[in-house]
Amino acid sequence: MAVRPVRIYGDPVLRQKAADVTAFDESLRGLVADLFDTMKAYRGVGLAAPQVGVAQRVFVVNVPVEGEPEQRFAIVNPVLDMRSGKLTAEEGCLSMPGIYEDVGRAAELRLRAHDPHGQAFERRVDGYLARAIQHETDHLDGVLFTDRLSPLKRQFLRRQLDELARGEVPEGYHPQSKDGETL
Ligand code: NI
Repeated sequence: MAVRPVRIYGDPVLRQKAADVTAFDESLRGLVADLFDTMKAYRGVGLAAPQVGVAQRVFVVNVPVEGEPEQRFAIVNPVLDMRSGKLTAEEGCLSMPGIYEDVGRAAELRLRAHDPHGQAFERRVDGYLARAIQHETDHLDGVLFTDRLSPLKRQFLRRQLDELARGEVPEGYHPQSKDGETL
């Protein structure tokens, strides 16, 4: 298990469409373990494989869900549908340090996926977990949360994004992401 460096905005892997996982093997479980370690080290609450340079459809989240003891999930090959409602709340991304903006997302949806052992499951999700799952699934399609902002908002962020793309990561970034809101 190891902490892997988080890829920052401008890295082409963040714009790739990630491939379905076909082998539920030790290598996949090693990747999942590294995603958990890296998410924890960066104090994030969600992390997708492309964010550590691996273009595969895998992500992890760490979000408390009422009535459930386990709040850490590893999700493989997610399919989202049956979306309903809309909620706007602040999001940040470990690949875009320093940027936090309100994003509109479906309030509720159905998640169908596999766990890292190849077990298929489905469940309805809502609340912050639904938000986190939408943000991370976007990563698997090469979509970043800033893509979902209004053109005007994106215009305002242009300079900050260009700086990130040039490698000007704010000093002291690692591991100082804003607690609890960075996906
Ligand atoms: Ni993110």
